[in-house]
Amino acid sequence: MDKRPIGVFDSGLGGLSVIKELNRVLPEENIVYFGDTGRVPYGTKSAETIVKYTRQDERFLLSHDVKLIIAACGTVSSVAGFTADELPVPFIEVVTPAAKAAVKATKNGRIGVLGTAATVNSNSYKNKMLEIDPNLTVVQNACPVFVQLVESGWIDRDDEVTIAAAKRYLQPLIKHKVDTVILGCTHFPAIKDIIADIMGEGVTLINSGEQAALAAAEYLNTNGLLGEGGRRRYFVSDRAESFASIAGILLGTEIEDDVEMVAIESFGG
Ligand code: DGL
Repeated sequence: MDKRPIGVFDSGLGGLSVIKELNRVLPEENIVYFGDTGRVPYGTKSAETIVKYTRQDERFLLSHDVKLIIAACGTVSSVAGFTADELPVPFIEVVTPAAKAAVKATKNGRIGVLGTAATVNSNSYKNKMLEIDPNLTVVQNACPVFVQLVESGWIDRDDEVTIAAAKRYLQPLIKHKVDTVILGCTHFPAIKDIIADIMGEGVTLINSGEQAALAAAEYLNTNGLLGEGGRRRYFVSDRAESFASIAGILLGTEIEDDVEMVAIESFGG
């Protein structure tokens, strides 16, 4: 038994797709969440900046004596996953579990990957899947506008603007007849119904956040690190009030405690 919290971070709201799944599979765990709402998006920034932000986010979580860190962000996992080697606690990222799940799910060997520009340019999901099966066809597309749409709460299934953006972004995946799509950015599960409607029946969507939460549950179980308490604390670097309202929609439950502000720049350079 280890009652220390799990630390989860993302550039903004997207990591809540991991929290939603953790609420299901590890409800008793204490969790500290950090959303870098003051600096979102990460996915359009340089690798150097993403790594700097990642180290600050990790230091903030370590200041809460976390027992495990989850990078609930496809961009961080793709570009700054190596920072795991600098940490005194175990680290789970979203790329590996999602890539494994996609390879297992595909029937026709054609898999689509949607992510931020930084994620797609890194080829992280693609390389991981080709390591498992070199015969796969992987079609990637960067969808940066999705991040802003989700951060703005434009996530209703009938939202015309989000549907129009999705139709455009999904075109190459439809053209290449993929039967499996990795939602490689943790923001994207918030609009999964829109993506599913456009991709059509018979296409499996892999939620990278959900896969990471399952990997975390397995890790804690296997290593005797399960905790208890069920406390959730949410921290952001800006716009705490709008975070709380959109977070409630994404999580499907109200956030009861106050969302706390962090001066994230003070956590090292
Ligand atoms: N949630 C993010 C991801 O999974 C990042 C969105 C962004 O900051 O660009 O990539």
